[in-house]
Amino acid sequence: MYFSSRLPHGFEPNALSASLAKLRYEGREILDLTVSNPTHCGFTYPEAEIRAALSQPAVLCYDPDPFGSPAAREAIASHHGHGLRAEDLLLTASTSEGYALLFKLLGDPGDEVLVPSPSYPLFEWLARLDGLRARPVPSYFHERWHLDLGALESAISPRSRAIVVVNPNNPTGQFLSKTEWKELTGLGARKGLALLVDEVFADYPLEAPTDQLGTVLLDPDPPCPVFLLSGLSKVAALPQLKLGWVAVRGPGASEYRSALAFLADQYLSVSAPVQSAAPTLLALAPGIRDQVRGRLQVNLNALDTALTAHPRLSRLPVEGGWSVLLRRPAVDSDEACALRLLETASTLVHPGSFFDLPGDGHLVISLLAPENFFREGLGHIFPLL
Ligand SMILES: Cc1ncc(COP(=O)(O)O)c(C=O)c1O
Repeated sequence: MYFSSRLPHGFEPNALSASLAKLRYEGREILDLTVSNPTHCGFTYPEAEIRAALSQPAVLCYDPDPFGSPAAREAIASHHGHGLRAEDLLLTASTSEGYALLFKLLGDPGDEVLVPSPSYPLFEWLARLDGLRARPVPSYFHERWHLDLGALESAISPRSRAIVVVNPNNPTGQFLSKTEWKELTGLGARKGLALLVDEVFADYPLEAPTDQLGTVLLDPDPPCPVFLLSGLSKVAALPQLKLGWVAVRGPGASEYRSALAFLADQYLSVSAPVQSAAPTLLALAPGIRDQVRGRLQVNLNALDTALTAHPRLSRLPVEGGWSVLLRRPAVDSDEACALRLLETASTLVHPGSFFDLPGDGHLVISLLAPENFFREGLGHIFPLL
């Protein structure tokens, strides 16, 4: 049997996933401190309004537009503000699909995109499935996370096409600073690279520093092409509805948008129900986001309280996003530690290595878990770290 070389060599789960599946099969209750699926976290969604929005007469009509419905794009543009227009946007069936279209748009097989790391682990595969290579470029931590702009510039090769940044980053929570943005766009302009900026978590600042660039949309006229990605997954905590979008700004924006529409036209993957519901869903989103923000803050406070009794442990600042990095003495590898916590304390955390954190001594914890589970999980694992 032949599989394309884009795919992994095998599909075996890693040791942590295999152990989790085995324990669950045996009936063990697991406290999941990695949960990032908001629909499993006990939020109160305005159910009747969401159902009504998804059952309007328009759901029975098929009027495909490769850019996505104008009404949905209007609603998304006004959610973002900062002068974004409906015609700057193209809808996708998720942020992940947005990446797939952008990788097809910008690269030939064998080309590469630079990704400051640690970051969202899916990039490696999203790029590879489109024939590209995601090349990690380490960021560094000094009181906060910083992009290493010198290292990014040195990593640029004739095959480089774009730099992918997440603002704020997952899992480090790093917001781009205003200075970093200026240097990044300058680099893009000098080297002929596009910037792909994933702002799915931009509505969730927590301990954001004053020089943070809240959103790249504050720059109306960047000197290099800028593609912003976001979606309902985090903006409205509704990942199951599968609606994402790409906004295009900078030189060549209108040609890039036409080419993206050509790509989107081959799939027309965004469903009519979610497009017709989008204006209502975005109107409901602030109420849902408030609950998520409240949860993130309560869990962060609970973590700080728990840390006071465990001076060996500490956490990194959480500028934004849904997760926190816990620092622990690296007496074993992060993967071995996560496995140990799962098997002996029935609590699931992610090792830093899953996100390319350098060395050992970091665990990644989601701040989204229901408050009682979160506190209970910390109570189980802290004595073992
Ligand atoms: C940084 C980042 N981008 C994109 C996504 C996925 O978004 P979507 O559900 O729209 O594909 C996630 C999901 O966790 C994420 O962490």
